Amino acid sequence: MTKKEELIRQARAEFKKQFETEPTLLTLTPGRINIIGEHTDYNEGLAMPAAIDRWICGAICERRDKSFTIYISNYNENIVIKPKGAEKFNTVWKQLTAASVQVINARYNINTGASMVIYGNIPIGCGLSSSSALVISIARSICHLFNIQIKDRQLARLCQKIENRALGTAGGLLDQYGIILSKKDQFMVIDFQDDSIEYIPSILNDCTWIVVNSQVSRELSKSAYLQRVNECKEGLRILKKETGISSFRDIDQPVLQKLKNKYDVLYKRLCHVTDENQRVLDLKNQLQKGAAEKAGAILKESHKSLRYLYEVSCEEIDYMIEMSEGVGGWHGGRIIGGGFGGCCIHLLADGAVEDFTHHITESYRKKFKITPEIMNITFPGSFQYI
Ligand code: GLA
Repeated sequence: MTKKEELIRQARAEFKKQFETEPTLLTLTPGRINIIGEHTDYNEGLAMPAAIDRWICGAICERRDKSFTIYISNYNENIVIKPKGAEKFNTVWKQLTAASVQVINARYNINTGASMVIYGNIPIGCGLSSSSALVISIARSICHLFNIQIKDRQLARLCQKIENRALGTAGGLLDQYGIILSKKDQFMVIDFQDDSIEYIPSILNDCTWIVVNSQVSRELSKSAYLQRVNECKEGLRILKKETGISSFRDIDQPVLQKLKNKYDVLYKRLCHVTDENQRVLDLKNQLQKGAAEKAGAILKESHKSLRYLYEVSCEEIDYMIEMSEGVGGWHGGRIIGGGFGGCCIHLLADGAVEDFTHHITESYRKKFKITPEIMNITFPGSFQYI
């Protein structure tokens, strides 16, 4: 992995090479992890994200013409965006980049252009929010450069809108809050019903959080994600009509029984959501008590629910979780993010990391002929200006 300092050095050097001048501003935007609370954000539920020490470095300065030229070092490619243009681009990063520039321009009426270089080490498209980090990096850099005052939550909502518009998705605010509002060495306990956030210490004595990238690409994720969003909405609509409840958070087991048998799929989806909300609170409790084994058991429950009730896991990550059971000192783990591939998170006793790495790499490689990427993560807090 390219280190943070190296990212900054290379972004600065690339900027000089591309634009023959120095950047006036350098920024770092982190990726995020979600400890627990999956597929709850768009259902007025609870989640527990934190920013991680994987970054997108942005280097930026004003330019005389009104265009935005953005060079992304990870792809050795640049894109020229006319703020009022409406071209369609053929790659995800270009769509996100163009939408970021255009939405911000439309809102704040910027009359100057900018040159920007972006270079990141967040693994792309595997559940660590590389897309959201890209949008936030561009949006925040432009706002700072042009002295646009924007509050954190306002920025989060704007970036959510940009991403959903650019990719045609219907994501909640988990990624944007996890990146923008994170604090060093803390997990956030977010309640998306009233937008409140509680911070709890991320330190768990003698334990390590490990992320494993299955290297399985999340091809199904966009259409299946939208399908889950719609299923939950439909389930809520039926329950409102049949039981008089008024929001997702009024749903409990007796209410859910109304869906059972007649709407089995909707029943499973909403069972996951209500149980997962409870698991966020339970995990918060266990982490505060330092009870690693119990915390791990909750992660395992979450994985089971994502696998069988929400049906967003995949064979490769299920296998990885099953194989981990055989490692002494493995407390628990689960698939993270939208699902259908990408990454899983694991809670391990410090002394178990080496064994885990060896065992998972070997068994996974043997079964799927794929080498997983095993990442040690820390929680550095949000955005940084350099
Ligand atoms: C994706 C979305 C988030 C959230 C997660 C699932 O990462 O962008 O808003 O819904 O999936 O928890």
